Amino acid sequence: MAAEPEIRIFKTSAELFQAAAIEFATLASAAVRNNGKFCVALSGGSTPRGMYSLLASGIVPAISWEKIYFFFGDERHVPPDHPDSNYRMANEAMLSKVPVPSENVFRIRSEQDAEKAALEYEQTLQKFFHLRANEFPRFDLVLLGLGPDGHMASLFPGTSGLNETRRLAIANWVEKFKSYRITMTLPVLNHAACVMFLVSGADKAGILREVLEDQDADLPSQRVHPENGRLVWLVDRGAAASGSHRLIPSQG
Ligand code: 6PG
Repeated sequence: MAAEPEIRIFKTSAELFQAAAIEFATLASAAVRNNGKFCVALSGGSTPRGMYSLLASGIVPAISWEKIYFFFGDERHVPPDHPDSNYRMANEAMLSKVPVPSENVFRIRSEQDAEKAALEYEQTLQKFFHLRANEFPRFDLVLLGLGPDGHMASLFPGTSGLNETRRLAIANWVEKFKSYRITMTLPVLNHAACVMFLVSGADKAGILREVLEDQDADLPSQRVHPENGRLVWLVDRGAAASGSHRLIPSQG
């Protein structure tokens, strides 16, 4: 039975990123204590950069970086040094600045054919999580942003990838970009122990209200319901400004 979403609203994006960094560190130390490692799928886009930079700044001490394994929820079909690369963003903001062993970072090798990159990443997930056929990996944390059309990772409205039920990672054709994106699939997101959305800025207020209130909207991010895990929305006041009854500012 999917848990009720936890919605937390912060006065500023800076407070949101701080809370996200603390949540990351708290989940990391619990996972390392219980399982000896912390497995996280990073989000791309622009929103998480603030959180990554904070984590790299040492705001939360005592993170066992050598016990953290970094994966990516999705990637654009570009090489790792391309300005649009999610890996490049995360590497510049955090991974290159913290003592995480390079072998702990599993980027999507999107410089090759998109389908080959997806297949390769699927095999990487199967090997790392010792999966048998039809099994899905259980991430300790999956970070997601919310797209202006209600997409998350690279599962966009109307794309075939949204309905994938067996694969772990796919090459998803996105007509509006006339490009493939390589993305983890919905079952992988919903197998996580914790899925955390970071949503910042007034330009997201309308779509966030729709996602949280309009059950008939059938937006991709409305399909994110961890079967046996937490669903957390960390939102700043700008994004919460739609006046939705579910977005009443908390005490932070
Ligand atoms: C990507 C992301 C995507 C992103 C949303 C929000 O590759 O772009 O994975 O899902 O999280 O589009 O993007 P912003 O944070 O830039 O608004």
